[in-house]
Amino acid sequence: MVFPEFRPRRMRRTETFRAMIRETRLVPEQMIYPLFVLPGKGLRQEVASMPGVFRLSVDQLAKEAKDCLALGVRSVILFGLPEKKDGLGSGAYAKNGIIQQAIRELKHKVPEMTVVTDVCLCEYTDHGHCGCLAGHEVDNDATLELLAKTALSHAQAGADMVAPSDMMDGRVSEIRTALDENSFHMVPIMSYAVKYASAFYGPFRDAAECAPQFGDRRSYQMDPANSKEALREATLDVEEGADILMVKPALAYLDIISRLHDEFDLPVAAYQVSGEYAMIKAAAEKGWIDGERVMAESLIAIRRAGADIILTYFAKEMAKLLTEGK
Ligand code: PBG
Repeated sequence: MVFPEFRPRRMRRTETFRAMIRETRLVPEQMIYPLFVLPGKGLRQEVASMPGVFRLSVDQLAKEAKDCLALGVRSVILFGLPEKKDGLGSGAYAKNGIIQQAIRELKHKVPEMTVVTDVCLCEYTDHGHCGCLAGHEVDNDATLELLAKTALSHAQAGADMVAPSDMMDGRVSEIRTALDENSFHMVPIMSYAVKYASAFYGPFRDAAECAPQFGDRRSYQMDPANSKEALREATLDVEEGADILMVKPALAYLDIISRLHDEFDLPVAAYQVSGEYAMIKAAAEKGWIDGERVMAESLIAIRRAGADIILTYFAKEMAKLLTEGK
């Protein structure tokens, strides 16, 4: 009988040993919780395709933020549903727009909550694209000015960080300049540097009512087949002044997260998107998987790949699990 010389199983024998040699951890502070804000009062509407995720009116935000803080989740990212949409997405940069109201409410009532804002026009345009149009195409350079106005209006309302998700070329430098020229040089930019044209965004487009009314987003979001291009996108955003690089979606793009982690010295964020959440919830509801364990496993996989920060609809649920010490 030949005995194995090395037995990896030795260090797996007890939970204390396993915890002792655990290479990757997740803490609630590393998660950012997305919130959908809608006009009205006293509203708390569950998103049909995202059980457990609610669209809230502004007056409901403070309570939600306090619940997050109690669990150790200290940051939220805001998405808005405006009263009206138009061709130029003017609701995105309106002084009293839905997001501007939401930021003021949160920073007034729960100042210790870090408020990140998604900077994009798709929720605010009547055609549902992420910028303004020239004919049937999204006009990159004309959109830059609107994005900069949007980011600036968020900063003026009190946002702690802005996160452009539109995928226009040159938007990080345009936003950086607008912020700096208005004394917001301390507001960081978390850039959706590598955002793929993904079918995993389906449930979000229901939640935020922002599906494109014609065509799709493939002329500005990235082709899922590409990874060298991801490095190029990230390089541009670094040069333009991004503080954090984001990859989106997460689980189907772990190789991209890993490459960004290896090649850049900026923090990497990953967005576990609506479709990733919905798949886990749906399969768990059917009893086909253990939802809690798959949630925890997918989040630790995203961390293991190299993400420092995870934007996830599971933030509260996962934080609860972590604080309960399981
Ligand atoms: C806005 C935006 C989208 C998401 C985040 N910001 C939708 C899109 O690009 O179609 C998706 C988030 C999710 O699916 O959870 N551009």
